[in-house]
Parts: sequence; C-alpha cells; structure tokens
Amino acid sequence: MSASLATVAYIGAIILFIMSLGGLSNPETARRGNFLGMAGMALAVLATVLGPRVTAAGIPWIVGALVVGGAIGLYAAKKVQMTQMPELVALMHSLVGLAACLVGFASYVDTSTVFPTPVEKTIHEIEIYAGILIGAVTFSGSIMAFGKLSGRIGGKPLLLPGRHWLNLVGLLVVLYFGGQFLQAGNTNAGMLPLLVMTVIALAFGVHMVAAIGGADMPVVVSMLNSYSGWAAAATGFMLSNDLLIVTGALVGSSGAILSYIMCRAMNRNFISVIAGGFGGGAPAPAGAGGAAEPQGEVTPVSAAETAELLKDSKHVIIVPGYGMAVAQAQHTVFEITKLLREKGVNVRFGIHPVAGRMPGHMNVLLAEAKVPYDIVLEMDEINEDFPQTDVTMVIGANDIVNPAAQDDPTSPIAGMPVLEVWKAKTSIVMKRSMASGYAGVDNPLFYKDNNRMLFGDAKKMLDEVLAALRA
Ligand code: TAP
Repeated sequence: MSASLATVAYIGAIILFIMSLGGLSNPETARRGNFLGMAGMALAVLATVLGPRVTAAGIPWIVGALVVGGAIGLYAAKKVQMTQMPELVALMHSLVGLAACLVGFASYVDTSTVFPTPVEKTIHEIEIYAGILIGAVTFSGSIMAFGKLSGRIGGKPLLLPGRHWLNLVGLLVVLYFGGQFLQAGNTNAGMLPLLVMTVIALAFGVHMVAAIGGADMPVVVSMLNSYSGWAAAATGFMLSNDLLIVTGALVGSSGAILSYIMCRAMNRNFISVIAGGFGGGAPAPAGAGGAAEPQGEVTPVSAAETAELLKDSKHVIIVPGYGMAVAQAQHTVFEITKLLREKGVNVRFGIHPVAGRMPGHMNVLLAEAKVPYDIVLEMDEINEDFPQTDVTMVIGANDIVNPAAQDDPTSPIAGMPVLEVWKAKTSIVMKRSMASGYAGVDNPLFYKDNNRMLFGDAKKMLDEVLAALRA
C-alpha cells in the first residue's frame, strides 16, 4: 500500500472514530457507534500492517501477535461478567500505558533514526520522556484501580502523612532527571535518568489511586480512561504516527469530559478528587449530624406485599443500582414494568450518573432488557417527581439513594447528589442484607418510617413479585 493510500485510510479511520464517539453519546445510536468504531479500528490496523512502514519480513510477526492478542481479547470478552466489565476496562487501560512505556524505551535505544538537527533530536527525546511518564502512571494507576474495583484491594484511601509533599518532591525529581536525560551524551548515559523517572512515575500511579477513596472511584475510572488516551497520543508522537496521535487525543479528551461530568455528578472538584481521601468508608463520628445516624428499626416486607403496593400505585419509579447488575435482574424488572404499564401504572426509571460500577452501567443493562428509552430518566430529570410518586423500588442500589449525603455534613459522601427516593409515599429497598454499598457508608434511608426492606437476591425477589403480580 502506498504512503498516500495509507494516509487516506487513516483519515477514513479518524472520521469513523469521530462518528463512533457521536453514536456512543446516545443509547439509541450506541450500537451503531460501536460498529463504526470497530470498522474504524479494522481499517486502521489494515492500513498500518499493509502500509509503507511495515516490511514483508515483519508481517508474520504482526499476524502472530494479532492472533495471540485477539484470542486473549476474545476469550476475556466472552468470559467476563457484566459486573466485572470495569475491572476489564481498567486492565485494558493498563496495557495502553505499558505499550507507551515499551515503545518509549524501544525508540530510545533505537539509534537508527538520524535527526537532521539537534532540536529535532531534543523534541524526540522530550516525546520519549513524557510518553514513558504518562504511560507508567497510567499502567500502575490502572493496575491499582483494577485491584480496587475487583475488591482485591480495599476501597479505603491510603493517606500517607505529607502525601502532597511526597508527590511534589516526586515531581521535582522527575523534572530534574528530565534535564539530565536531555543533556545525556549517549543512550547509556540517558538510561539511568529514564529508569529513575519510570520508577517514580510507577510509584506515583500507585500512590495516586491508593489515596482515592471508594466514593471517588467513578472519577478515577474515567480519568484513567483519559490518561490511556494521552499515553496512546504520546506513543503516536514517538512513532510519528498521526492516526495514533488523533485517536489518542480523542480518547484523552472524551475521557477528560467524562471525568468532568462524573465530578459534577458527585459534586466534587477534580483537584480534590486527585488529592484523595473522599469516601473512605470511615463511619461518621458519634454524635455528629444526627439526621444521618441510623435510628430505629427497619421494616421488612414480603414479595407479595410489594406486589400489592405496586398494583395499588399510579406512579412508580424504579431506581436500579449495582445489585441489579450482580443479580442480573434487568429482564425481570422489564417484565414487571410491562405488566404494571399494561395495568395503567406510570412506571419510570431514575438513573444516577454513578450507579453501578462504570459510566452508563444501568443504561446498558436496561437497554439489553429492552426497556424503552423514553421511560429511563436521568437523576436531574426525575428527582423532583418523587413527592408525587406512590412507590419507589430501589433495586440493589445503596450509596446513590443515601440521604446522609444531604443531611450529614460529616458523612464521607456529604455533598454527593442523590436520588431522593424517601420523598415518595413508600420506598422499597431490595437488597440481601444490611451491608453498606461501595462507599462503605451506613444508609439512614433503611430506617425511615415510609421505607420497607425486601431482603433477598434481587432476581429471586423480583421473580416472586412478578409471580404475585400475575396471580
Ligand atoms: P452500591 O452503593 O455499591 O450498593 C449496591 C448494593 O447492592 C449493596 O448495598 C448490596 O447490598 C446490593 N446487592 C449486591 N448484590 C445484590 C444482589 N444479588 N441482590 C440484591 N442486592 C444486591 O451501588 P450503587 O447504589 O449503584 O452506587 C454505586 C457506587 O459505586 C457509588 O458509591 C459509586 O461511587 C461507586 N462506583 C461507581 C462507579 C461508576 S463509574 N458508576 C465506578 C466505581 C465505583 P447487599 O450486599 O446487602 O445485598
């Protein structure tokens, strides 16, 4: 393939990626968006493999790597549960970071490129230094996020004494060694500063994510998504590959926008998220913020009673959370919704922006169960309708319906906007036990007079509710 044909194919791939992102912004066009992204990626890979920079001798290596990598990816995608998706995404991000590091070292030790001027050589070395820095932070940060999301590492923030100073000193050392690296006369002399910086960047990635509390993890997920994009763009600079630069910038900026949306959804500012410590799961100190402290008894309810309450309602709002994903209850939820709507009940869904474990988690599940999009509303659209609602059914959600976020300034999740389910005539919370949610915070909703607890696995309980509704 000639260089100009490869460039045309790259431009085609870039257009497909942009259209893909456009499609992904709406559930109704998301499937098409995914398809366009896949087509763009296929075109990009073909144009690269058949392009002018790959020699015939290299093709068997690339095909071999594609087969091995593709088989691992296919196996992982087939095997992963929907609830493990965020962990898988975190692992994928770590691979982008690792690739940036490896490409950085490879292009540094590769002395075959001749630079026409010293300035161009310096620019290339800056690209290598910055690329490895971003790649190493992305790699270790994503591995740490994988550990936290999969529960292998606790959600409690690790708050080292003087941690901001530690980060600052790390940054200064990285800058100092950056100077040493650029002044190094040869590859051997430059390797030490490069390695020292890599180790510091790896430690910084671990420290940054370790310091972030459970409740801020949604922002971390989208932030690492953004970092992985910048790592890919840095790789593009090192390899002088325009497609990688543009694609990386698209991922980097869309991840940054998503981080902003997540921060807004949680009423947090980005800097304080990075500074860490929010939502560590520490219980509120005794005597503080009385409203948020668990009081009284919980009132259990049976599936049959739940069905009665639903049948007698005119307006119902369903609030799904992580537990619905665990129980895979979305199809039963849809059956119940269909039945109630046939009986003339106005059923709608209220979706919190950080419900579940990844952005859009609940929307994906509901779309999979074929719930019509027009009855699925965002938190901001539905929050003021709770007082006119007869029954709110909270299915496996906890943190996103916790009134302590509003009532208790000492709560670890204070200030996070929540769905005000307790304002309905009756709220029913479906979960297996009194355990707390991801942020590890107690939930005073459970003890409210108008709240009922339907204990059990969400799928099992909803099957019973459905049977009772049909009876
Ligand atoms: P959580 O607060 O995590 O609560 C989920 C609840 O589901 C748990 O309390 C659990 O209680 C219940 N549950 C688990 N399995 C169940 C099952 N089989 N049947 C019924 N209930 C089950 O979830 P949420 O309300 O969706 O809030 C999301 C949380 O995750 C927030 O803190 C958010 O910050 C965090 N987070 C979000 C993201 C993104 S991007 N969305 C990423 C990382 C973290 P039992 O054990 O008692 O059943």
